[in-house]
Amino acid sequence: MSALPTVSAAESSSAAVGRVVSGGVDTSHRAILYLEDITVSFDGFRALDKLTLTIDAGELRCIIGPNGAGKTTMMDVITGKTRPDSGSAFFGQTIDLTRLTEAEIAHAGIGRKFQKPTVFENHTVFENLELAMKTDKRVRASLRARLDSAQLDRIAATLDLIRLSGEARKLAGLLSHGQKQWLEIGMLLMQEPQLLLLDEPVAGMTDEETERTAELFKTLAGGHTVIVVEHDMEFIASIADVVTVLHEGSVLAEGSLDKVKNDSRVIEVYLGR
Ligand SMILES: Nc1ncnc2c1ncn2[C@@H]1O[C@H](COP(=O)(O)OP(=O)(O)O)[C@@H](O)[C@H]1O
Ligand SMILES: [Mg+2]
Repeated sequence: MSALPTVSAAESSSAAVGRVVSGGVDTSHRAILYLEDITVSFDGFRALDKLTLTIDAGELRCIIGPNGAGKTTMMDVITGKTRPDSGSAFFGQTIDLTRLTEAEIAHAGIGRKFQKPTVFENHTVFENLELAMKTDKRVRASLRARLDSAQLDRIAATLDLIRLSGEARKLAGLLSHGQKQWLEIGMLLMQEPQLLLLDEPVAGMTDEETERTAELFKTLAGGHTVIVVEHDMEFIASIADVVTVLHEGSVLAEGSLDKVKNDSRVIEVYLGR
């Protein structure tokens, strides 16, 4: 019974398609993301082949599948980097992702973390979070402007969440690989996305960093919707609720990890090799 965001007359009159309500995605039907019959071809090869997938608000969804299954292409479609040849992609009930630019999609509340961390190495951890929060992307101008107490509180809370409170004054370039990954997740969080897409987040992490990342993701779920693509099955087992298995551009199996692990087709194309 969540309250719907207030919609002004001007907004509601153009509500049919493509409306962007920043921070007010209409998830009154529980689902936050709908992909239906999405097809993406590269020179005739179907990277996605009528992919249909629904994600509920607050879910922590794991996506697994062999190399080339279309996992990254799916994220490219959701974030507007790749346009589908056909099919529909909606964020909430009203936001048609196939009509928006990458920047508009980010602004609407979808944040993506790529595999390789992209932090500002010559700035401190604190400054990285500060820059991620600011709308003025010119580094000098942003860092000169004073932070108000609410902004300081948000940075402190994020530092705590990503377990970098003790490293706030350290240059980001001096962090470990795992810490850089957490910092980048923190930078995404400063933009207050509702949906977070994380592509192979624990690749290259130590076992301890991987365990801490699992805890972080479990903390984020609920308040955010999180979609994680990962190959590390131990990590998946530690966070999994619903798991979706992609194969040749569409959903091969979906359900609890136990269910998909015992699916003979999943064993054949992915787990059994
Ligand atoms: N820009 C592109 N041009 C041509 N082929 C691509 C492109 N992007 C992805 N592909 C192909 O599409 C298929 C799916 O790739 P991808 O989505 O990266 O899979 P995954 O992330 O599951 O490993 C692969 O066969 C890949 O080679
Ligand atoms: Mg990939």
